[in-house]
Amino acid sequence: MGAIGRVNVGIVGAAGRGGAFRAGFEANGARIHAVCDINEDALDECAEKLGAQEKYADYATMIERSELDAVVIGSPMQFHVPQSRMAVQEGIHVLCEVPAGVNVEECRELVIACNESGAVYMMAENYAYMRANVMVRELCRRGLFGTLYYAEGEYLHELKELNEITTWRRKWQTGVEGVTYGTHSLGPILQWMAGDRVVRVCCEGSGYHYKDPRGDNYHQDSNVMLCKMRSGGLVKIRLDMISERPHAMANYQLQGTDGCYESSRGGQTESAKVWLRSLSSEPMWFGLDAVEEYLPETWRNPPEVALRAGHGGSDYFEVLDFVNAVRGLAPCPIGIHEAMDMTLPGLVSQQSILQGGGWLPVPDSRQWPEEPSKPQLRMVWPERLLDSPPVPRLPDGYELRQYTAADERDYLDLMDKAGFVGWDHERVERQRRSVIPGGFFLIEHRPSHRPVATAMAQHVPDELHPQGGVLGWVAGDPAHKGKGLGLAVCAAVVARLLSGGYRHIYLRTDDLRLAAIKTYLKLGFEPFLFCEGMAERWQKVCETLGWPLSLDASR
Ligand SMILES: NC(=O)c1ccc[n+]([C@@H]2O[C@H](COP(=O)([O-])OP(=O)(O)OC[C@H]3O[C@@H](n4cnc5c(N)ncnc54)[C@H](O)[C@@H]3O)[C@@H](O)[C@H]2O)c1
Repeated sequence: MGAIGRVNVGIVGAAGRGGAFRAGFEANGARIHAVCDINEDALDECAEKLGAQEKYADYATMIERSELDAVVIGSPMQFHVPQSRMAVQEGIHVLCEVPAGVNVEECRELVIACNESGAVYMMAENYAYMRANVMVRELCRRGLFGTLYYAEGEYLHELKELNEITTWRRKWQTGVEGVTYGTHSLGPILQWMAGDRVVRVCCEGSGYHYKDPRGDNYHQDSNVMLCKMRSGGLVKIRLDMISERPHAMANYQLQGTDGCYESSRGGQTESAKVWLRSLSSEPMWFGLDAVEEYLPETWRNPPEVALRAGHGGSDYFEVLDFVNAVRGLAPCPIGIHEAMDMTLPGLVSQQSILQGGGWLPVPDSRQWPEEPSKPQLRMVWPERLLDSPPVPRLPDGYELRQYTAADERDYLDLMDKAGFVGWDHERVERQRRSVIPGGFFLIEHRPSHRPVATAMAQHVPDELHPQGGVLGWVAGDPAHKGKGLGLAVCAAVVARLLSGGYRHIYLRTDDLRLAAIKTYLKLGFEPFLFCEGMAERWQKVCETLGWPLSLDASR
């Protein structure tokens, strides 16, 4: 803590959303000591607006040099995990904007870093602090809805124009299929259903009806994720940042055995309403004023400063909880595991939608530190097919060809669309070093001249497969799925490896990549059981796919 017991706070992304937190901190005995933003031109103004003594254009330098007790991470979402990790590893408390991260793997690393650190990590899910949501949480806590078994959350916020100004949004929020920004919808619901968590999700989209100024599709307009709860209940989340319509970012419904709740949809035209058996034995709507007596004390007479703090006061109360947790006065209400409960379903939904909308399990971050990381699944090309090279078959309008250096930009785009995060020039070049001549395949969509599927034939011998050839980096544009392009590009790679004399052809994949696994099975690949637990994992995969399992050959 600072010399007089104050909490010294640094804010990264201070010229954007990070700039909204001054009132909350100052009213709660903390002060903003340093601001950081890569937009150096904005730093003077930020420091003045937030009352900060120090300014930084580089986050790592702020963490290293500034005397900070806590940081607020208000930068774009792809920086949330790296910046949070850096802080907690230095023992600096973190209040991080939503969502907690952009893929499951980096979230796992964050959880491990938080578990090893004494610092508080809180996710700034401010919708959980909105007045009506706090009220419903209290009614749930008192059991007035009975057993909760269904809920809905929607975030309908058209921001195509903002995508062009804050360009990270175009990639991370509207460029990735699935629920990319779901915590405002799921967060409050999980607090209502306290003690429950999402155990599996499936997700589908409503198609593409708008294009960005460059003529490219956004992700699908409306993404709907169904969440199966551990208790057996069901939650539906809809995210739409594309469709033209009035905003409605805080829509919720809740159903229990003794009552139900419907939020005001869009705010101005309709009020929130509730029915509780304790209010009337006949189902009928009441306004929230009928249950005003249950409003928690903090919200009864909010200080003037709270109402000025942003998002209807929720930003103030969230900062109050964070500062209390940092001071050790109260447990952190949205700590690392609650943050994961709110974030991971959306990240898994991004896999589900790419795989045709099937159900996928959502990991429980509380198990992560104990769970040793599992080796990837492997599949092999069976001996009996060594003399039967598969033949790539393409539908009209598509052409199979080799990658050239001129394809790099489109290739990176394709990998991105297929959900492979973080590919850049370096990574492509690194992978190309192991590609055999004539082994880097693209399928081009003739009308648009864009590559829409790809795979590599690579020379990757290892202990399990001496002289091994790999079918690697299979990816497809979701907008062209269902045309057999994955099968065709994989067939091309296997045929190339066979013609190159490879007799040990294998591939690595993950249990969650069900659509890809089905393609490999169809082509002729078989599961390779190289360590304990593999048979059980394959059994589960094949059961889910409805594929007859024969494991004998590859033991
Ligand atoms: N909880 C909410 O209600 C709410 C509302 C808006 C935004 N958000 C979240 O807040 C975050 C920021 O959103 P925004 O609308 O302010 O975006 P923005 O683009 O307007 O602002 C982000 C700021 O971060 C700076 N920045 C970018 N990369 C940086 C880096 N590596 N290091 C330091 N500074 C960097 C930018 O220069 C910019 O000033 C996002 O994660 C978003 O999801 C939450």
